[in-house]
Amino acid sequence: MQTLTILKPDAVEAGLVGKIVAHLEEAGFTIRASRMIQLSGAEAKAFYEVHKERPFYEALVRYMTSGPCIPMVLERDDAVGHLREVIGATDPAEAAPGTVRKLYAESKERNVIHASDSAENAVKEIDFFFSRAELERLWGDSGR
Ligand code: CMP
Repeated sequence: MQTLTILKPDAVEAGLVGKIVAHLEEAGFTIRASRMIQLSGAEAKAFYEVHKERPFYEALVRYMTSGPCIPMVLERDDAVGHLREVIGATDPAEAAPGTVRKLYAESKERNVIHASDSAENAVKEIDFFFSRAELERLWGDSGR
């Protein structure tokens, strides 16, 4: 099973990419695809469209476009549920000890990492950043 993560701009800026990727690999995830990108405003708005009525939407779009980020396709059994456990609660103050956000995030607004919240959204979010053809070129099949 696959899920989508994004190492957010604060993670890239703080030089935390290596540590977070090591944490994810040690948690049993295989990296199936990865790329550094600069999200445009329109892309960030589209990706977070579910939050468009929320008071933090504009700040979220500003944060996600503030610098490069790294979307990645991760694979393991129960990838969606497991990744959410490994990254911890949205707010690092509430995240369990040893989770990525507890270890590395500064606030619930700037929380270093994204994870898909359901199997259905994982497929949509992977499609947002990566084409099936691209995954097939890498691995012989897209894993989906
Ligand atoms: P994530 O859960 O990955 O997706 C929604 C993001 O909105 C969240 O991470 C935070 O980066 C951001 N955010 C900003 N403010 C809030 C808030 N008050 N509650 C939840 N998420 C917030």
